[in-house]
Amino acid sequence: ALNRSYSTKAQKHTDRSYRYVQPRASYKVAILGAGGGIGQPLALLIKMSPLVSALNLYDIANVKGVAADLSHCNTPSQVADFTGASELANCLKDVNVVVIPAGVPRKPGMTRDDLFNINANIVKTLVEAVADNCPDAFIHIISNPVNSTVPIAAEVLKQKGVYDPKKLFGVTTLDVVRANTFVAQKKNLKLIDVDVPVIGGHAGITILPLLSKTKPAVTFTDEEVEELTVRIQNAGTEVVEAKAGAGSATLSMAYAAARFVESSLRALDGDSDVYECSYIQSELTELPFFASRIKLGKNGVEAVISSELQGLTEYEQKALDALKPELKASIEKGVAFVQKQP
Ligand code: NAD
Ligand code: LMR
Repeated sequence: ALNRSYSTKAQKHTDRSYRYVQPRASYKVAILGAGGGIGQPLALLIKMSPLVSALNLYDIANVKGVAADLSHCNTPSQVADFTGASELANCLKDVNVVVIPAGVPRKPGMTRDDLFNINANIVKTLVEAVADNCPDAFIHIISNPVNSTVPIAAEVLKQKGVYDPKKLFGVTTLDVVRANTFVAQKKNLKLIDVDVPVIGGHAGITILPLLSKTKPAVTFTDEEVEELTVRIQNAGTEVVEAKAGAGSATLSMAYAAARFVESSLRALDGDSDVYECSYIQSELTELPFFASRIKLGKNGVEAVISSELQGLTEYEQKALDALKPELKASIEKGVAFVQKQP
């Protein structure tokens, strides 16, 4: 069964879902940071999901208009807006999936880690509210640096006594979406069929596409492997530079995050065939958090697909060894940030 193209299935499902707007389920989704560059198109895509009955949009500003605008779309979900800390608890009541794209994006010349000082606090505060108001929800962390913000979220949830590692996800779907697109272009493949697992983390060399595990099976020269790997690792920077100071990826990120939300909702709804890559608490390597393919179920992570780490090429094994120190340091920085607070 592991030879099947899991993510392709997710991609096809997502693409199909957007064409039908009859309600099929009634899940409640909240977006924290909904007025931003990612938040707005993500809200639109989630508004088109037949699995959603309520869509709660939260931000510190500018969310009222976004919600009024979106609420005129004749799709099933009810849109509600929540502005500022005093409305956060209400936004989170009975929510099944919380998506967090709140925080500042990169400008040219910055690393994702340069965002730590601002975004760490934002994520910490928002996850505290999630812990207090909807501790059973799936939590999708988009805010960078994901390699550290997910460990921050885990520590906050632990302190609140509600941590369920199976329900906390770092969203790395955009890395898979990019890998699929770039490989399809390079090898002239039908886009919808291509599926490349991406493991590790979500920053520079910690992003490791396993090109040797591409479905359908395809061969690459050493030069192609190097070129594609580096392009996938730097794709975020490619967008940051093209936007020249106006932010980072928002539209492709919204597409990717919407796919991860849809996959989560399908899993909650009992679909037993849902697979995605995500950055989670993991025992796959010696690192406490690691992105890999997972199976999603009603209770979150149902299984980690360990077989994809077997039979790596020499190039992939070296890249895996090389990414570990950076990923480890980012994880420790996130954990220390919460543990050191008085
Ligand atoms: P943006 O500045 O356009 O939007 C961010 C939004 O967050 C704004 O509307 C802002 O008001 C809101 N916000 C700030 N503080 C908040 C708080 N305390 N509570 C609630 N909302 C708050 O930025 P963007 O382009 O949407 O990017 C958001 C984040 O997503 C950045 O950190 C970026 O690096 C990250 N990102 C991650 C990925 C990924 O693959 N995981 C991809 C792209 C961007
Ligand atoms: C991305 O991969 O596009 C995001 O992480 C945003 C960034 O800063 O590159």
